[in-house]
Parts: sequence; structure tokens; C-alpha cells
Amino acid sequence: MPDKLRAAIRDVPNFPKEGIIFKDITPVLGDPELLQLSIDQMAATADGLEIDKVVGIDARGFIFAPPIALKYKAGFVPVRKKGKLPWNTKSIRYSLEYGENEIEIHEDAVKPGDKVLLIDDLLATGGTAAAAVKLLKQLGAEVVCVTFLIELDFLNGREAIDCENIHSILHYS
Ligand code: PRP
Ligand code: MG
Repeated sequence: MPDKLRAAIRDVPNFPKEGIIFKDITPVLGDPELLQLSIDQMAATADGLEIDKVVGIDARGFIFAPPIALKYKAGFVPVRKKGKLPWNTKSIRYSLEYGENEIEIHEDAVKPGDKVLLIDDLLATGGTAAAAVKLLKQLGAEVVCVTFLIELDFLNGREAIDCENIHSILHYS
């Protein structure tokens, strides 16, 4: 089944910068069967776990996290790029495969002890997801699972993430 997803993902060389091969997921999103398949497969990685909140990372994590949250009857929580959230936030800076960034979360978005499933579209260096896990832990949440649609295995990003339970549907080496 993941072969169908893999076949639909488009490599775009030199985007957004020279030397980066961008994994374009829009052909997956635009096909109802593949969109459903990607959500089902990502959700299944947390099968049997109790989930209070599904956290999605701005921007492409927002595509997958809400439908997965509904499957678990859990709330959706956005982790956003700096300056987008209106209420009191906790923020953290991190370095990206191509540049630097800062993400933040509302202070009251998760409660101490909440069991969290963290979702993003892609794991590259792991900087983004590692930062999101740190923020969630600072708020007292327990990150029980971290799931991506795509993992770039050769960047070893999962080693940066402080969670024992990390999954990706598609691996690229
Ligand atoms: C991309 C991707 C992941 C992140 C992975 O997001 O969606 O969130 O980079 O890289 P890392 O593992 O090296 O941190 P990006 O911030 O480029 O853009 P987006 O707003 O389109 O999601
Ligand atoms: Mg992103």
C-alpha cells in the first residue's frame, strides 16, 4: 500500500534552495484515495495507545493531524511558526535542513500528563520535531508517539527526537 503513496510523491530538485530535493506531497493530497490512505496509515502507528491530543506542526503537519485526532476522539493542537498564535506562548528556536526557525505553542494547549501523538509530514534533520517534543515536555505532556508520512533516513533525524516511539510510512535512503 505505501508503494502507491511513494509513486505519487514528486521530487522537485533545487526547491526551496539549490541542492535540496523537495518531496512534494500535493499529488497525494489531491487524490481522495491516497489522502485517506496516508491518514489511515499514519493513524494506525498509534493503534492501541491512549491519546489525549494530536499535535500538528505548522504548516504541513496541519493537513494530517486533525483527521487523525478525530479518529482518536482527541483534540488537535497546533504548534506554529513564531508570531501566529494569539494567546500566551512557549517558544523554541531550532535549525532546519535549510535555515533557522522558531516555533511556539499556546501555554494552555496541553495539560501536564496529557498523552500526545505528534504529527508532521516529513522528518529530515529532526530539528523541527525535536523542538516540538521539547516544548510539549516543558508543558508536562507525555509524547507517546511521533509519526511522519515521510522520513529521509540518511539524515538520521530520528536520533534528535526524544521519544522511543517514532514512525514513518515512507522511508527514503
Ligand atoms: C519542513 C517539513 C518539516 C520540516 C522537517 O517544514 O514540513 O516540518 O521541514 O525538517 P527537519 O526535520 O530538518 O526539521 P518547513 O518548515 O520547511 O515548511 P512547512 O511550513 O511547509 O511545513
Ligand atoms: Mg513543516
